Amino acid sequence: THPFSTIRVERKGRAALITLDRPKALNALNLQMMDEVVAAAEALDRDPDTGCIVVTGSARAFAAGADIGEMRPQSYMDMYGADWFAGWDRFAAVRTPTVAAVAGYALGGGCELAMMCDILLAADTATFGQPEIKLGVIPGIGGSQRLTRAVGKAKAMELCLTGRTMDAEEAERAGLVSRIVPAGDLLTEALAVAETVASMSAPVAMMAKEAVNRAFETTLTEGVRFERRVFHAVFATADQKEGMTAFTEKRPPEFTHR
Ligand code: CAA
Repeated sequence: THPFSTIRVERKGRAALITLDRPKALNALNLQMMDEVVAAAEALDRDPDTGCIVVTGSARAFAAGADIGEMRPQSYMDMYGADWFAGWDRFAAVRTPTVAAVAGYALGGGCELAMMCDILLAADTATFGQPEIKLGVIPGIGGSQRLTRAVGKAKAMELCLTGRTMDAEEAERAGLVSRIVPAGDLLTEALAVAETVASMSAPVAMMAKEAVNRAFETTLTEGVRFERRVFHAVFATADQKEGMTAFTEKRPPEFTHR
C-alpha cells in the first residue's frame, strides 16, 4: 500500500530515493506532485534512519517544469490565494542532505527543484533551463534567485530572458552541477554519493549543510561566525569523539548519528 500516486519512494540502506513518476507528462510538477514530494521528503527527514535523500526522474525527464495545463486557467487571486508553489519552501527546508540525480529535461520547475537539492549530479543527457518566458511567465519556484546564485548574472539573465537551455557540459562549466556522469551510471552514482553522505554523522552532516547554506543568506563575517559556533557545537556530539578516536586508532569510524 503506497500512499503516493505521482512519485515512488524506496529505501536503500540509510539512503532514500524519491522518483518523480508522471512519465506521460515528462514529470510535470502539478500540485499533487508537490504535495507528495514535500510529504515524502518531510517524512524521510523525520526518520533517523534516513541519512540522505536522492530525487530523480526518468531517463527522458527529471521534470519538464510546473504543470502548464494546471496553471493555464488560474487567475491572480487563484495563485495568490493558494500561495501557489509556496509548499516547495518546505522541501528546501528539509535538514537531511538531498541529491538531485538529473537526466534529460530539467526545465522551469524541474530545474528549480534540482537547484533546491544540496548536490546536483547530471547525466550527460541533462538539459537545464528556465524557459518560462516563452510561456509569458517567469520562474516561480526560486529559479531567478537560485540560478543567479549558482551561475552568476550573465548566464542567468540570458537563460531567463531568452528561454535558452544549457546542456550538461555547459551547466558543469557554469558551476550549476557538481559532476557529469554517463546516463547509464546516474542512479548508481547518485546512490553511492547518498550512501557516502548517509554514512557520516547525521547531525554533523545536517550542520554542514546548514553552514554552507548560510553562505547564501548572510555576510562573510556573520557566516564565518555562524560556522565557528556550529563547529564548537559538534564537540557536543558522540560522533565527534568517535570520528577523531577512530582516526587516532587508525580504524574506520562507526558513527552513531547522534
Ligand atoms: N506541463 C504539462 N505538460 C507537459 C509539460 C509541462 N511543463 N512538459 C511536457 N508536458 C507534456 C506535453 O504536453 C506532452 O503531453 P501530451 O503527450 O499529452 O501532448 C508530453 O508531456 C510530452 O511532451 P512533448 O510532446 O512536448 O515532448 P517533446 O519531446 O516534443 O518536447 C519539451 C519536450 C521540450 C520538454 C517540451 O515538452 C516542453 O517544452 N515542455 C515545457 C517546458 C517548459 O516550458 N517548462 C516550464 C514550465 S512553467 C514553470 O515551470 C513555472 C515555474 O517556474 C514553476
